[in-house]
Amino acid sequence: MSSDINIQTAKDHDNLTEMEKKHVPFIEAPSEVIAGEPFDVKVTVGSVPHVMEEGHYIQWIELYLNGDLVGKEELQVSDEKAEAVFKAVGTEEMISVREIINCTIHGFGVCGTCGTRSAIVNLRAVESCSIHGLWEYSKGIEIISPIVKAGKKCTWGPHL
Ligand SMILES: [Fe+2]
Repeated sequence: MSSDINIQTAKDHDNLTEMEKKHVPFIEAPSEVIAGEPFDVKVTVGSVPHVMEEGHYIQWIELYLNGDLVGKEELQVSDEKAEAVFKAVGTEEMISVREIINCTIHGFGVCGTCGTRSAIVNLRAVESCSIHGLWEYSKGIEIISPIVKAGKKCTWGPHL
């Protein structure tokens, strides 16, 4: 896992600075995926393309799903663009863990007994610029279980 020391990100995604536009990784992924089915995630640095030239280039891009490393793409000065495509896959475990978090901390959420289960899971990209250091960006995607259980009356609620 990358060091968490001095990783920069955008302070306000609606008003990026020039430096942020060139360095914050841009993540393209489906907003909903099915657990167990691989999907593509494209990471581009940044919303304004970063230069790839001797002495100033993007060295690598990493992608994490739910905190686990999906892959790391080493880039070269000769690469035309600072981008990488990763194959990620959500799991039933990610949904289960999120259910427990919802239950114990937020007091509401998906109980898992009344039908389709899903969870919002974090996709996180980190990149390293040879001059400007580490930058990251995260977005949530929904992982939906393909297992639809027999419908039961939902007894879940904030009052319980
Ligand atoms: Fe840079």
